[in-house]
Order: sequence, then C-alpha cells, then structure tokens
Amino acid sequence: MFERPEAGGTVVLVSLDFGSPDYQDSLNELVLLSQSAGFKVAGTVEGRRSKPDAALFAGSGKVEEIAAAVQEAGAGLVIFNHVLSPIQERNLERALQCRVLDRTALILDIFSQRARSGEGKLQVELAQLKHYATRLVRGWTHLERQRGGIGVRGGPGEKQIELDRRMLANRIRTIETKLKKLEQSRAIQRRARSRGGVLSVSLVGYTNAGKSTLFNRLTRAGAYAADQLFATLDTTSRKLWLPEVGSVVLSDTVGFITQLPHGLVAAFHATLEETAQADLLLHVVDSASPNRDRQVEEVNKVLAEIGAQTVPQVLVYNKIDLTGLAPDVVRDEYGKIAAVRLSARTGEGVDLLKQALIENLARPNFGEGSHERSEC
Ligand code: GTP
Repeated sequence: MFERPEAGGTVVLVSLDFGSPDYQDSLNELVLLSQSAGFKVAGTVEGRRSKPDAALFAGSGKVEEIAAAVQEAGAGLVIFNHVLSPIQERNLERALQCRVLDRTALILDIFSQRARSGEGKLQVELAQLKHYATRLVRGWTHLERQRGGIGVRGGPGEKQIELDRRMLANRIRTIETKLKKLEQSRAIQRRARSRGGVLSVSLVGYTNAGKSTLFNRLTRAGAYAADQLFATLDTTSRKLWLPEVGSVVLSDTVGFITQLPHGLVAAFHATLEETAQADLLLHVVDSASPNRDRQVEEVNKVLAEIGAQTVPQVLVYNKIDLTGLAPDVVRDEYGKIAAVRLSARTGEGVDLLKQALIENLARPNFGEGSHERSEC
C-alpha cells in the first residue's frame, strides 16, 4: 500500500539548529537512522533559524543550497531531521524535484522494514495509515476549499477523495479490531502465567544498547541482533531457569528513542504494556555511548509514561569491552545488586547479572515442587 523509498539509495540530510542543546545528538541519530533504513548518506545541509518557515520549513536560500547538494550527489531523497507539515513536504518536493521524508516517516519506514510478527506488522501498518490519513485529509482539504471557492464542488476528484478516506478509515478499524483481539489473548496468557507463579523480566533500553545480544546471551535463543537501530520490533519471550528462583520469562522489547513519533508510541502500547506488568526490568545501557546518561533519562521518561516507573530496575552497563572497565556490581542501601557492568558480546560479567536476577527475584519459599528446567 505504501510506496517506499528505495533502500540503498543516496540521500541528503537536512538539519536546522533552532538552538536546542540536543541539536548535535539528534543529528548524529538521524545519520544512524538513515543508515539503518539502508540509505547512503551523501551529506548533510545544516543551518540555523529562529523558527521554521511556514511554507518550506527552511528559508528559500537554504532550499536552493539543498537543491544544489541533491544535484551534486545525484540523490533521490531528502530527509529532514524535523517534523514537516503535509504542505511543507509537498512544497519542498516541488522545489527540490525529489522525494522528501521527515523524521517521523523515516522511523515509520524502518519500523515497517523490521516488524516480523503478525502483531508487529499490524501495529506498524496502523501507525502508517494514521500518518498517511492526516496527510491525505489535510492535503485535500486545502484543494477542496479552493474548489468550493470557484463553485466546482462534487466533481469526480472529490468522490475519489471520499473513497480514499473511507477505505483508509475501514482499514484502520479492521486493524484496530484485530489488534484488540491479539491484546486480549496476550492478557489471558499473562494471567495464566501469573497464576502459574512465573516471574517475568523485561529487557528495556535505548535502541542499540545491546538488549537482543544480552537476551541471546542469557537464553541462547538466537534472537536477531544487528548494528542497526530498532533491529527488534516485537517482544520476544523465552523461559529461563534460575537457581533459588525457578522459571522466569525473559522478554526482549522494542528499543526506545527520543522523539519517537507519537502514533508509534500509541501503536506499540501492547508491547510496552507487557513491560509495565513485569516483576523486574533490566535496563540495558550502552556504556560506551557519550549520550548514555541522556538515554537512561529518556528510557525512564517513557517508562513513566506507560506506568512502569514503579517496577524495580537493575541497570545493566553493557559493552564494557569497549570502555575497558572490569565487570562489577553496584549494591543499593539494602545490599541488593542495583547495577551491573558487563559485556553481552564477550560474556564477561554475565554471571554477575545472573546473581543480580537471583537476588532480586528469589522467593524465600522456593525449593520443593517441580519446576520446568530450561537453559541458563
Ligand atoms: P534495538 O533492537 O535497536 O533496540 O537494539 P538492541 O538494544 O537489541 O541492540 P542489539 O543487541 O541489536 O545490539 C546492537 C549492536 O551492539 C550490535 O552490533 C551488537 O553486536 C552490539 N553489541 C551488543 N552488546 C555488545 C557488547 O557488549 N559489546 C560490543 N562491543 N558490542 C555489543
């Protein structure tokens, strides 16, 4: 249904500094996002403004500069590090004579490439339809008004718009019904799990922190890990067995990111809801990233938004093979492990994390009874 820009194509990025202190981080992230989507970044056009231009987002001189960069690189796509209005997007496409994506559309594109489960695919399609629907409606309203003004209402064009709108609305409704059913069956499974006394642990963290690598290390499940943002889109769960604790369900979740398109936050509600129900969160941090503190804050902010701020957390400072630090733990005032330094890639310090899991999840009456044993 959606015309996707070709992967492997050459792109020009545009990023305007409106004086935000996070400007450079957000630009670095845009480069990573574009590469994750499979584009070759030919260059970035930067500029400073006090506020966006209503018609073109950038000033007309800047647009000329972008057009020259597009021509020089032979690029077929321009990606803005901002949210563009449908009108700005259309005006820019006309001025630059090539396809223009904004940050939201880029993230949606990556999500649509990566979703694997039926539910994940539906969630992404829903977010895309909603994004598309607002554009269609707003874009056409403008034309309708024009048509109304010159007294040509009700032509064949308008019927087509009405049909498109109805088709979109129907598809949105169908997907929402399907997702609701999937959510219900997920809730039933969850209740069955909690009746069975199985504890659940969710891996959360900023995108690319190493959640899937750690998940694999802990469960040896072979979940997909790649040096791309959002390699994981759907929750993957595996059972593992821990001494003194018994069976635990470990779930890998979607990576967090700043400025996640609003529609996607809502679309991924089901995935994140699971997180809010967990008994323990392993908050994985890329300790080698210069932005690690900001990323920890961002993740905590989203956790608060989904009501998971009260779930106990163990911070996992991953990638110590890159920082040269030794595996270690930090204990809280009660002597429990609150943070672990490890490398999911080399396995150094993973035994400390298992210890942290045991300390945080051990049940005093555990011992007798039959517990299904899985690997750990
Ligand atoms: P999203 O799916 O985007 O949320 O990513 P993720 O948090 O699941 O990260 P993933 O496990 O896919 O790892 C991202 C990249 O970091 C991959 O290239 C991993 O090989 C790498 N990585 C993960 N753990 C480590 C580590 O301990 N050390 C090093 N050097 N690299 C690591």
